[in-house]
Amino acid sequence: MRKSILVMSGKGGVGKTTVAVNLAYSLFLKGFKIGILDVDIHGPNVLKMLGYENVKMQMKDEKIFPLVIDERLKVASLAGFVEDNEAVIWRGPKKHGAIKQLSQDVEWGELDFLVVDFPPGTGDEHLSAAELLNDIYGAIIVSTPQKVSLMDMVRSIDFCNAVNIPIIGAIENMSDGIFGSGTVEEKCNLEKIRFLGKIQLSKTIVQKSEDGEPFITSDDNSLKEDFNKIVQAITSNC
Ligand SMILES: Nc1ncnc2c1ncn2[C@@H]1O[C@H](COP(=O)(O)OP(=O)(O)OP(=O)(O)O)[C@@H](O)[C@H]1O
Ligand SMILES: [Mg+2]
Repeated sequence: MRKSILVMSGKGGVGKTTVAVNLAYSLFLKGFKIGILDVDIHGPNVLKMLGYENVKMQMKDEKIFPLVIDERLKVASLAGFVEDNEAVIWRGPKKHGAIKQLSQDVEWGELDFLVVDFPPGTGDEHLSAAELLNDIYGAIIVSTPQKVSLMDMVRSIDFCNAVNIPIIGAIENMSDGIFGSGTVEEKCNLEKIRFLGKIQLSKTIVQKSEDGEPFITSDDNSLKEDFNKIVQAITSNC
């Protein structure tokens, strides 16, 4: 049975796509069959973070064929239907239609996990996906230690509760640097959700993402150990 893991945050730029790509890649390296679904209609970055540019998704008989990186690692993204620098200017119903197709018409084959990368906030994309994905395992909320990000994290928690999406837990990203550390865990305790772990603010992550490679393929053992703990916490009840 496929399990969909939704990666969300109230605030933009806090590391959702970084978490989604590295979570998917870790699960792939552990031997699982993984799909990554990029539902960030206005800023689809998943393919770029995996080193792919100008990829075009193929369609046939209303079915969408994902990019096959490996038989166990496939990606579907709106970026595969538009030019790389093209702005997508769509309102609600059109977005809903696109997410409906991305949620229901992709020929994934058999998958263990579908990792879904969201845009920031709690908008149309989130509502559509909550309604259309029928195998949601839960949501992971990403936040930096800053107050504005924590406020938006609470909005994401509210959203999940309102639409009955189970919350797997929250991750503190860009931790231990100029943004501080420890506040996401405190907020998790207050909100009674699970703290999954932290990812340091790191030059390696910046560089790896610029190079289009998951940071878990770097030789930074402390980064890899911290992220592995997060992956174990996420999958511990699967
Ligand atoms: N722990 C980290 N240390 C250093 N840089 C990071 C870290 N996490 C993410 N970044 C960098 O921050 C930038 C934003 O990350 P990312 O695109 O994953 O955020 P996002 O939440 O998906 O953004 P958006 O809201 O636009 O979708 C990227 O350039 C990424 O490489
Ligand atoms: Mg993103």
